[in-house]
Amino acid sequence: LELAVIFGGVSSEHEVSLMSATSIIENLSKEKYNIHMVGITKDGRWLLYRGDPSALADGSWEKDEQNVPAFLSPDSSVHGLLVLHQDGAQVLRLDAVFPALHGKNGEDGTIQGLFQLSGIPYVGCDTFSSAICMDKAVTHTLLSAANVEQAHYLWFYADRFDAAPDTIRNKIKARLDFPVFVKPCNAGSSVGVSRVDRFEDLDEAIRKASREDKKIIVEEGIKGQEVECAVLGNRDATASIVGEIGASAEFYDYDDKYINGTSQLYIPARIPDEAAEKVRETAVRVYRLLGCSGLARVDFFVTAEDHRVVLNEINTLPGFTSISMYPKLWMSMGLTYGELLDRLVEFALQ
Ligand code: DAL
Ligand code: MG
Repeated sequence: LELAVIFGGVSSEHEVSLMSATSIIENLSKEKYNIHMVGITKDGRWLLYRGDPSALADGSWEKDEQNVPAFLSPDSSVHGLLVLHQDGAQVLRLDAVFPALHGKNGEDGTIQGLFQLSGIPYVGCDTFSSAICMDKAVTHTLLSAANVEQAHYLWFYADRFDAAPDTIRNKIKARLDFPVFVKPCNAGSSVGVSRVDRFEDLDEAIRKASREDKKIIVEEGIKGQEVECAVLGNRDATASIVGEIGASAEFYDYDDKYINGTSQLYIPARIPDEAAEKVRETAVRVYRLLGCSGLARVDFFVTAEDHRVVLNEINTLPGFTSISMYPKLWMSMGLTYGELLDRLVEFALQ
């Protein structure tokens, strides 16, 4: 199969994508797939990269002299990758696209719209469910209508805060107990997220989040364990066993996720069987409810006192680095990394 792996992108998770793409490319079967690496620079240029995948992670792939501009064309007469060589254009037919992208423009339905227009099957959720799951305020609102337990929250546009800060501060104080988490509604890997223990520190956290997005969500902190469940499949999706994050920092932040390597993953999670079953059930239920396909990692808290299962968020293109939870969960269930990738491509082709 002719398979394009797309990585990088205009997103605060550009570097995470490079790490995810590296392990995806390493683990894809070279017998089954003819892999085309397509990198998107931080300023949005698309390049067909033909060098060694080991140059992805540190960003040096961008400087490779053999790179050529290449685009997915929405024109139905092309249906492939349009490669612009010096001496003319070439159309590279593709059987599928694997977006190894996270966050803005990669996980939020934007690029999925282009895949759709270009007529090429792609791994993961469609435009609609990607967009819903990317926006934490929209996800929370829809899932509260479906009685899925979540942290108390409120959300607002950052410009409303600039115009009437007291109104928003007072609403937060009246409705939520501290500590709270202040997050950009559309971002990932904890970029722009702060834990706020004191009312006085709200403003700084809101300013930080508003550098990432125009919408802000504030959620009540949940005392308990942080657990994650991997879902795989289309309408008949199945859930993996449940994994747990033992964060080494005050919360599971960007450095803890990708830099320090000091947080622990526990597979299976150290929670009672009934709680694990509830996590798995809820993960599949919300996956179907929000129209997900291919894959998603659904994140939860399990409360300390009474083991209630509280949904945190859904990631439609979860981290795929060598230390990431999504592949680890499936590998602990007996799939190899390569088989997991095969399944994802099969689901894309269905
Ligand atoms: N947003 C990161 C990649 C994750 O959810 O794993
Ligand atoms: Mg996320």
